[in-house]
Amino acid sequence: MTQQHITLITGASRGIGFSTAEYLARKGHLVIGLARHVPEKTFPGEFFTVDLSDRDATTEILANLTKQYSFDGIVNNVGIVHPQPLEEVTLDNFEAVIDLHLRVAIQTVQAVVPSMKAKKWGRIVNVSSIAGLGVPYRTSYAAAKAGMMCFTRTWALEFVKSGITVNAVAPAKIETKMARSIFSAGSEEEKRLISGIPMGRAGKPSEVAAAIGFFFSEEAGYITGQILYVDGGCSIDIHPYYKAR
Ligand SMILES: NC(=O)c1ccc[n+]([C@@H]2O[C@H](COP(=O)([O-])OP(=O)(O)OC[C@H]3O[C@@H](n4cnc5c(N)ncnc54)[C@H](OP(=O)(O)O)[C@@H]3O)[C@@H](O)[C@H]2O)c1
Repeated sequence: MTQQHITLITGASRGIGFSTAEYLARKGHLVIGLARHVPEKTFPGEFFTVDLSDRDATTEILANLTKQYSFDGIVNNVGIVHPQPLEEVTLDNFEAVIDLHLRVAIQTVQAVVPSMKAKKWGRIVNVSSIAGLGVPYRTSYAAAKAGMMCFTRTWALEFVKSGITVNAVAPAKIETKMARSIFSAGSEEEKRLISGIPMGRAGKPSEVAAAIGFFFSEEAGYITGQILYVDGGCSIDIHPYYKAR
């Protein structure tokens, strides 16, 4: 029997992180979830509370977890958005958004890579966003998500001979609390945004979870450094000229 995979997920208390935990647990993983608050629903694995915006608290929990668990998978999912037009971007918000995405991903990957290298097997999946291609009012978030894409390609090359793959998913609008924090349900802004999605609907957290889960499969072992858009067609529908025809 193959050994059970042990997978860490940041931002696992709800939304895409929770749904990914459910997906991977169904596939037999022991899932370890992190977030500031305990999930409302029963977590399908072990759950620990931590504020990942606190660098020292992050160091401490990762040190404790890597003593307890020999990880071979990580989903760098935690994120915040803080939408602002450029003129209103505050440097505090900029730092908070960049820090929670990029600094945390560096810390988690540094923590789990030694056990992955020892097993000669590992899966790193970064949660980026279509915003990483450039989206108005997302200066900080777009930079953070483009950074997650760059981490993916860079680490894929660094680990390419170690049995560790590094890939990313880049969702468009997914029905979660984060999406709700930007536009309320049924608002004119939301209707306009959804009408711009070629499929004409938002995605479900489970649809992102399935894409993340694919990268964890044995069959995906020859795929590394890739960005998989989970976006209802947004990333291929960028030419208004063709739309008008
Ligand atoms: N929803 C979308 O439309 C969409 C589109 C593209 C990409 N994404 C990306 O997908 C990922 C998940 O987003 P989501 O939509 O599922 O958002 P969400 O529902 O807001 O979930 C965010 C998760 O992160 C946790 N979190 C936030 N701040 C934290 C902190 N300081 N320390 C520890 N945990 C923290 C939250 O739990 P606590 O509040 O309990 O800490 C929660 O579990 C993010 O990286 C996001 O950028 C989302």
